Amino acid sequence: MKFFIDTANLAEIQEAQDFGILDGVTTNPSLMAKEGISGKNNVLRHYKAICNIVDGDVSAEVIATDFEGMIREGEELADLDEKIVVKIPMIKDGIKAIRYFSEKGIKTNCTLIFSAGQALLAAKAGATYVSPFIGRLDDIGFDGIDLIEQIRTIFDNYGFETEILAASVRNPMHIIKCAEVGSDVMTGPLSAILALLKHPLTDNGLKQFLADHAKVNG
Ligand code: E4P
Repeated sequence: MKFFIDTANLAEIQEAQDFGILDGVTTNPSLMAKEGISGKNNVLRHYKAICNIVDGDVSAEVIATDFEGMIREGEELADLDEKIVVKIPMIKDGIKAIRYFSEKGIKTNCTLIFSAGQALLAAKAGATYVSPFIGRLDDIGFDGIDLIEQIRTIFDNYGFETEILAASVRNPMHIIKCAEVGSDVMTGPLSAILALLKHPLTDNGLKQFLADHAKVNG
């Protein structure tokens, strides 16, 4: 399973890249706003800076919600760097835009997926990735992992090449469950990825090994 990080923070992206397990980055307008990035030129510069750090796909979201606007913004984003994946919302014009980009060989990530039907439509339009938001489903009492499993079955039934990008991942159990049900990618905060490192028996075991070594080696 590929590990993407869901942030627009350059220091966090650099830390994840240096950790050696990073396959890509996802961003959204809220994450860009959190970093205080505003104005078209600054936004484009920031996406380029992310591409310069990461060795993998970088999702950059369009703001327009009409077909022509999404095409205009998406082409500008795609021109920035070959790592750019144009992130497009799950709306009717978004599906048309995904089809357009897919025919031009431009990678897309269909975002704000909350049902299997939405994922199926995006895959039929030729999306490179679909992003089901599992944490936000859990927040309202639905099981986000069930949705990943359902989409996996549908994509496998028909041989869709669209990758399932489990988004809105919030904790290490989400990551493990996504891997169990065959998600292609997960995206979440670096803290959720680093939490996979932790086990008290590892900490205790290492402490004991070092103590035993010190007993005879000083
Ligand atoms: C995915 O592409 C989104 O940027 C993101 O995962 C949303 O996560 P959140 O629900 O934690 O905001």
